[in-house]
Amino acid sequence: MKSSDTVWHHASVTRERRELQNQHKSVVLWFTGLSGSGKSTLSHAVEEALHQRGCRTFVLDGDNVRHGLCSDLGFQSTDRQENIRRVGEAAKLFVEAGVITLTAFISPFIADRSRVRSMFPHGHFLEIFCHCSLEVCEQRDVKGLYQRARAGEIKQFTGISSPYEPPEKPELVVETDKVPIDEAVERVTTLLESRGIV
Ligand code: PPS
Repeated sequence: MKSSDTVWHHASVTRERRELQNQHKSVVLWFTGLSGSGKSTLSHAVEEALHQRGCRTFVLDGDNVRHGLCSDLGFQSTDRQENIRRVGEAAKLFVEAGVITLTAFISPFIADRSRVRSMFPHGHFLEIFCHCSLEVCEQRDVKGLYQRARAGEIKQFTGISSPYEPPEKPELVVETDKVPIDEAVERVTTLLESRGIV
């Protein structure tokens, strides 16, 4: 049931005041890509670099969030849609709290990512496409999930039996099967510098 009898309470400590105190802007860095494309690796490496610079950061990671906030959701389209909606709402709270928020979710559908983008003020949602061929992701198969998906043990597996829609106009594309991790991190931090975020 919708809570229509509620009134928004405006905080006196605003995002802008937190940003001033933190000496950086708050933003969501939305990493998207196939399973095994390097979303978690890259987002955590970027977080490490930003943390060392004194920035306030937090990573919301698919596998972790699915242990708690989204533990009731599976991998059919409607569940993925709800997963991304909740993560978008959570990311919005973190951004309001002045945090550079990094999210690492497959987030396979353009419509779901666009919906999240529209929840943020212009320039506060930066989409980073971890571009990696299915062949390489499948060769890596860090968790053995591709093998199980090919064997039919996991249904609706992204890239095998469920679609992945690549971003049309991401703020950054990192070819994670070609670019070394240090360079990938630098590309992301350069993006943040060029936007005046850090
Ligand atoms: S989604 O599509 O954005 O809702 O998925 P996400 O929350 O990022 O969760 C992806 C991780 O769940 C594991 N896993 C699967 N992925 C894709 N398809 C299916 N069917 C599936 N089942 C389990 C997998 O470990 C994903 O982690 P990453 O880090 O992407 O490899």
